[in-house]
Formats: sequence, structure tokens, C-alpha cells
Amino acid sequence: MNVDAVSPRPDIHHDRTHTSSMRPIDSATHDRAADGMIMDCRIQKLFYGNFLAVRDTDLPIIPNEITSFIGPSGCGKSTVLRSLNRMNDFIVGFRLQGSVHFRGHDIYASHVDAVAVRRSIGMVFQQPNPFAMSIYKNVAFGLRLNRFKGDYDERVEKALRDAALWDEVKDKLHTSGLALSGGQQQRLCIARAVAVEPDLLLMDEPCSALDPIATRRIEELMLELKEHYTIAIVTHNLQQAQRVADRTAFLFVDTTQGGRTGYLIEYRPTKELFDDPHEETTKAYIRGEFS
Ligand SMILES: Nc1ncnc2c1ncn2[C@@H]1O[C@H](COP(=O)(O)OP(=O)(O)O)[C@@H](O)[C@H]1O
Ligand SMILES: [Mg+2]
Repeated sequence: MNVDAVSPRPDIHHDRTHTSSMRPIDSATHDRAADGMIMDCRIQKLFYGNFLAVRDTDLPIIPNEITSFIGPSGCGKSTVLRSLNRMNDFIVGFRLQGSVHFRGHDIYASHVDAVAVRRSIGMVFQQPNPFAMSIYKNVAFGLRLNRFKGDYDERVEKALRDAALWDEVKDKLHTSGLALSGGQQQRLCIARAVAVEPDLLLMDEPCSALDPIATRRIEELMLELKEHYTIAIVTHNLQQAQRVADRTAFLFVDTTQGGRTGYLIEYRPTKELFDDPHEETTKAYIRGEFS
């Protein structure tokens, strides 16, 4: 990440006083970065306006792994995911107490350009959202934005191959991305995201709009991609978490204070979390007692 990219955002208030008064985060984080994590997310409190949406959620993310976030609707899975590449900056009233470090750098530091952060940390959404342009231009889009100076044809082909779409589209690269099937459109969005070679790929329920065959295709693709990328995925599908994720975070909603605040219950290697959950709430959730 180009952490030297300077573009302070005075319009966005990130209240980090709490963290800085508690401990020297930078030295602590460098230690944890040295432990092999790519992302060190420590959310103490995350607000939308006055609403405390998420509290007490620490999520170290390990490179070349797939990390999944599971939990009932409204527990803050998307909110946490969006905090990892400053996508929440677009939401008026968003405020974070805590820190998110990427490769040891604080992505919310005042001198860091959020656009540069999103370039290093790509995102794929629930609904496939190809742009109304050709397949080729969809994939080349981010490259043009980044003023990429290399061979476009080569990079577009590589991204489409990485996204397991090349064979299906190589003869119609200049037709509209919107003419593809839903599953192909989602793979096109993955190709668009990987074309700029991000360090980390965030996916928010990327299969929920897809049929089971297209879903399995994307799951296979994620397993291939993790050779070269690190992936964090939100899923409401517990089988999917078990099929693809190395590590799983279970979030839940705390209603005891009269609010609806999401927080992390447990975060463990996926098999351990499902085979031997430590917490009663996790046990109940994976038994399907609530959704
Ligand atoms: N843009 C927003 N503005 C205000 N509140 C929001 C916004 N997005 C999400 N929330 C609230 O934050 C909480 C967590 O939402 P979300 O992260 O979407 O949960 P999940 O992805 O687990 O379903 C919910 O109470 C939701 O209503
Ligand atoms: Mg969500």
C-alpha cells in the first residue's frame, strides 16, 4: 500500500483517542505484523451517528488464508468488513474507536489516502455489479484508474484467467459484461478486483444472489485465489464457511443494553469453531437455533 499517499480527510472524524491513550498501538501492531498477520483489526467501538453498531471485535487476518465472518443478520458482519478498506467512509456519521492496521500501517491515519487503501484492498459485493461496458473494459477499469502503463491485453487476460472466466469469454471480450449470467458476472467482478493485484480481497456474501452451481464455482475459485491473495468473506451460509474458510469469526448481537450492538463471540480455525465451539451462543447458532 502506498501509505505515503497524502490526502487527509478532515470531513471524516475517526476518534482514536481511546486507543492511543491505552497503549502504544504502533509498536504492538508491529509485533503482531511480525507474527504473520496481514491485517490487524481492533474495533473497540464503531458508531453510525449515535448508534453503537459494533463493539469489542479484534480480528487478525492471516495472509493466504480465507477468513469468514458469520453471524445473524444485523450483527455487523458487513460493517466490520467495510471497515477493513475504509468503505464505511462513505457513510455519514461513521466513527471508529480502535485501529485497523494493514501490513503494520494504520489505514485510518490522517495522512493515508482512502483511495490508495481501497486499491490495495479490493471488494466484491453481494449483487454482481459489472459496469455497463464491455467485459474487457470492466476488467481494465481499475487499471486505467491507476494509470497502469503496462500491457493491458496481458493483464486483462491474466485477471480473467485468475477469475476462472477466460475460457468462457475469450471470444467475446468486447460484448457487454451485463449480458453474462449471474455467476459469470460475479466472476467478472472478481476479475475486475484482482486485475489491480490487490493484497487483500474482501467479499460480502458474494454468492447469495447465485444458484448452487455458480456458488460452488465461486467457492472453488476462492480456494484457487488464496494461493496468491488473502480473502475475507462475509457469508450467512455455514456450509460455505466450512467448505472454504481457514478461520471463522462468529459475531452476535447484544440486546442487553436495549440496543442492537454486534460483537465478536469467538474467532478460531474453522474446523475447531464448528467441531468444538467454546461458547454456548456459538453452539446454538451452528445448531441452527436462530438465524
Ligand atoms: N449505512 C448505515 N447507516 C446506519 N446504520 C447502519 C448502516 N449500515 C448498517 N447499519 C446498522 O448497523 C448494524 C450492522 O449492520 P450490518 O453490518 O449490515 O450487519 P450484517 O452484515 O451482519 O447483516 C445494523 O443494526 C444495521 O442496521
Ligand atoms: Mg451484511
